[in-house]
Amino acid sequence: SVSRGILCTRHYCKKTPTKLRVSEAISGAELGANIKVQGWVRSVRPQKTNLFLNVNDGSSLQSLQIVATSELNDPLLTFGSAVEVTGTLKKSPHQKQTVELQAEQIHVIGECNPVDFPFKIKERHGLEYIRQFPHLRCRTNVFSSLLRIRSEATSAIHSYFKENGFVQINTPVITSNDCEGAGELFQVEPPSPENKEDQNFFSVPAFLTVSGQLHLEAMSGAFSKVYTFGPTFRAENSQSRRHLAEFYMVEAEVSFTQSLEDLTKVMEDMFRSATEQILAHCAEDVDLFHKHVTPGHRDTIDATLKRKFPMITYSEAIDILNRSSEKFAFPTDWGCDLQKEHEKYLVKHCGNIPVFVTDYPYDLKPFYARDNQDRPNHTAAAVDLLVPGVGELCGGSLREERLDLLRARLEELGLEDTYSWYLDLRSFGSVPHGGFGLGFERYLQCILGVDNIKDVIPFPRFSHSCLL
Ligand code: 4AD
Repeated sequence: SVSRGILCTRHYCKKTPTKLRVSEAISGAELGANIKVQGWVRSVRPQKTNLFLNVNDGSSLQSLQIVATSELNDPLLTFGSAVEVTGTLKKSPHQKQTVELQAEQIHVIGECNPVDFPFKIKERHGLEYIRQFPHLRCRTNVFSSLLRIRSEATSAIHSYFKENGFVQINTPVITSNDCEGAGELFQVEPPSPENKEDQNFFSVPAFLTVSGQLHLEAMSGAFSKVYTFGPTFRAENSQSRRHLAEFYMVEAEVSFTQSLEDLTKVMEDMFRSATEQILAHCAEDVDLFHKHVTPGHRDTIDATLKRKFPMITYSEAIDILNRSSEKFAFPTDWGCDLQKEHEKYLVKHCGNIPVFVTDYPYDLKPFYARDNQDRPNHTAAAVDLLVPGVGELCGGSLREERLDLLRARLEELGLEDTYSWYLDLRSFGSVPHGGFGLGFERYLQCILGVDNIKDVIPFPRFSHSCLL
């Protein structure tokens, strides 16, 4: 019986259809093969003698057309149901696709009640509508495209750093520092009724990180090029279209820097390299956005990739704003923080392409920013990258590497004890260095032209909202 069993298995193997993903099936490489695909029904079109289905498994924007005889129709075959189809891959006589699957068997794996399913066949649902269903919106074309682009963008950013000799560091999510000093921290503590001050879990106040920069700086004392790419958290009570409470940040730190140009070169190169990779590898998905969701945005991206990003100082930016005829809601005096309306104006002024703004007022920047020691307008060697549609995409600076200046600054802020370890970094082989952080969701907004940041992250968290 053992040998019979083996024989049976062999016999079975011969007949077992090859399991393909939809993207592999539609590539046409397996024409004539007996195959099996699994996925979710994107459309059902019963006709007199035939049944047409479109099945998608997330591997591609395109679905695979299934052609079956009417006998294979099943009332459970509805939009959204999960199916397994076996059959033969054939050349399609229709213009819209090159191959189709002539079904021999259709098995409904998971039913989908079409009445309660929030998406309707043939309807194009807007981003705002699908946002109400964070657990289901991956089932729409537009959001599955977004997620494929997001995945590619992640790889593209890692590729850039790898190709350019950066070492990836996993900086902690739980930390005891407020890197940016803005007080936008989420405190971390396990729930406990006896949670007294002297009994807390970490023995010190602990928070979700607002930035991995300080830990990255520690590592930049041994590795001259480091980066981190992970979640960051800010308790910003903002309902804006570019702020989240949980977002992903790409941060890099480069040792032995001479000037801000050493940093802006990395920012610009990374932006170009990642964007070119995404446009090349996700052409169809990006087109869906550029043609149907944000028409016209492709021209902005093409212009962005063609030209070198201009660089202006903060003082020049203030001059530009003050010379404009635009009425701004917020003040534009030297020393004011740039608001989104100012950033938008500056980007337009510079030809609607990304622009670097450098040398911000010293008092606007966190304690770590390098003092330019200039007067009367006292500035720090800091730089922001402003981009069309979004405004600030990256924030960076040279770091204060001089022990005496850094100590004086921390003493002024009453932070010298908290940051004694950070001061150590300036005592043991300190070198000029600098770095920046790029908001990953804002980057996706920028390349796709998406207006609301909640539409480029799988599960958005923001004030008064933590669905799921
Ligand atoms: O300018 P930020 O605050 O810089 C830092 O955190 C530095 N420590 C980074 C560094 O130098 N290593 O933040 C960097 C970027 C911003 O330019 C913005 O794109 C994004 O992070 N960002 C946010 N994105 C979404 N939601 C928020 N609440 C964000 N806050 C900042």
